[in-house]
Amino acid sequence: MIVSSFIKKAPLALGMALLISQSAFAADDKKEKPELLTGASTDMIVNTCAGCHGPDGYSRGPAIPTIGGMAKTYIVETMEGFKSEEIPSTIMGRIAKGYTTEEFEQMGDYFSAKPYVEAKGQESDKKLAAKGKKLHKKYCEKCHSEGGTEAEDEAGMLTGQWKAYTAASLTDYISGDRKAPKKMKKKLKKMIKKKGKESVEALIEYYAK
Ligand code: HEC
Ligand code: HEC
Repeated sequence: MIVSSFIKKAPLALGMALLISQSAFAADDKKEKPELLTGASTDMIVNTCAGCHGPDGYSRGPAIPTIGGMAKTYIVETMEGFKSEEIPSTIMGRIAKGYTTEEFEQMGDYFSAKPYVEAKGQESDKKLAAKGKKLHKKYCEKCHSEGGTEAEDEAGMLTGQWKAYTAASLTDYISGDRKAPKKMKKKLKKMIKKKGKESVEALIEYYAK
């Protein structure tokens, strides 16, 4: 769904990306990645990502996360998670299967060196966002400091991330499709129990500002 709607407005880079990672897209193909990718330069590798995540890792959104400015470790571990399918995904699983850990490190070096740019022009319900701010302080700030914009936390980016992505990501954690860190799972559960499902909406509005 995301892929097909994206392809309609796909820039050349995505065409390239699809071409290069063709074997990664053939889901049932268990073969090793093609020779072509072995020892690929960082520029070649990140070109594949730019079509969706933007050349600086600033995604033009809304279902594709911004990855520029994230911690290298977070990027590498998340790519490993996509590859092993421990982290559910619509497309990253297929993409990640085409690369080695060394190449994940090249991606991590490149995107972690870019500044984190908060999504511009998102709509947000101010009243809910104000509630979300308090909820974040109480349940999330400990691990997601500065509103979840501190790369060193190695926990992704929350404030300024694209709203549709944050919503999808939280849905995966709450449903259990994505395994949350133990303490995060506890906090989410506690928050929803005490404050209801609306608390999740409030957080999403807060992160969109
Ligand atoms: C066809 C579009 C597309 C391409 C190409 C693509 N991504 Fe993604 N990426 C996504 C989407 C969509 C998600 C959300 C997870 C999902 O549903 O697959 C995502 C998620 C991610 C995440 C997780 C971000 C977070 O906040 O946890 C990382 C890291 C990432 N991509 C890195 C990359 C890298 C590195 C490349 C290049 C090798 C790349 N992506 C290529 C679409 C793409
Ligand atoms: C004990 C630490 C901890 C707490 C508390 C915590 N988190 Fe997390 N969170 C993490 C870590 C670590 C990750 C990195 C990904 C992973 O391990 O799954 C993460 C990832 C996330 C992500 C995915 C980010 C991305 O880019 O895909 C979201 C969304 C999130 N947390 C939301 C929350 C919310 C909302 C709360 C409060 C209700 C919360 N977290 C509380 C540690 C925590």
